[in-house]
Amino acid sequence: MASLHMSLSSLSGPTFRPTRKLIIQCSADRQALFNRIAPVYDNLNDLLSLGQHRIWKRMAVSWSGAKEGDNVLDVCCGSGDLTFLFSERVGPRGKAVGFDFSKEQLLIASTRQKLRSNTCYKNIKWMEGNACDLPFPDSSFDAVTIGYGLRNVVDRHKAMAEICRVLKPGSTVSVLDFNKSINPLSTTIQEMMIDNIVVPVASGYGLEDEYKYLKSSIKDFLTGNELEKLALEVGFSTAKHFEIGFGFMGNLVAIR
Ligand SMILES: C[S@@+](CC[C@H](N)C(=O)[O-])C[C@H]1O[C@@H](n2cnc3c(N)ncnc32)[C@H](O)[C@@H]1O
Repeated sequence: MASLHMSLSSLSGPTFRPTRKLIIQCSADRQALFNRIAPVYDNLNDLLSLGQHRIWKRMAVSWSGAKEGDNVLDVCCGSGDLTFLFSERVGPRGKAVGFDFSKEQLLIASTRQKLRSNTCYKNIKWMEGNACDLPFPDSSFDAVTIGYGLRNVVDRHKAMAEICRVLKPGSTVSVLDFNKSINPLSTTIQEMMIDNIVVPVASGYGLEDEYKYLKSSIKDFLTGNELEKLALEVGFSTAKHFEIGFGFMGNLVAIR
């Protein structure tokens, strides 16, 4: 369970007002957080990005280089947006795995699969597990995506090393996430949008604390250059980071 830390330390006016502070430190905290937000996650994504996340996800899948008949993996699949796009791309002769450690997110993903009539979605398999310990043999996949996932993984180095290991030589991982900009103006605007739009909207769903975590998670994340460096360190042969969505999002493309 996530640790809910009750603190009496904040003063508001002349009286003490207890504040509830959500501390997200370890993998289990993050797992619990994603289980909790699962029921509203898709609606909030549409609302908060004004539907733009769908475009960024299409770009991410396209950058993965996946083609018809391929065997592909979507790590940290959540409710499956990227997995469904992968599935359409590889078609009925291909195979797509959606992989996540949140049972609730996977339940929503598999319900969405059942509700959709597209027969190619039969090529999808959902699997529960940790991105830092992928249960696949070396060189299993023709392409891998990880969307808004790497930022949330506690040991990013291990997760990227695992992705590199399960990719076939010459194949690509496409890593979509918020961009941790080195431009102070972009960072300020990004933080203002989170404080003034994202958190207030999420609080309407009772998830204020959960979405406050977004700002700190971007702060703790890696810049484009650092992501490229990480990819090369774990064994990818090339790595290039692209800024998208007015520089608020980023996509790393790395080839094993
Ligand atoms: C922000 S969601 C992104 C979901 C989806 N890829 C999308 O773009 O909509 C991040 C997902 O990463 C998963 N996750 C975080 N750390 C993980 C880990 N170590 N192993 C597996 N899944 C993880 C969470 O459960 C959550 O579903």
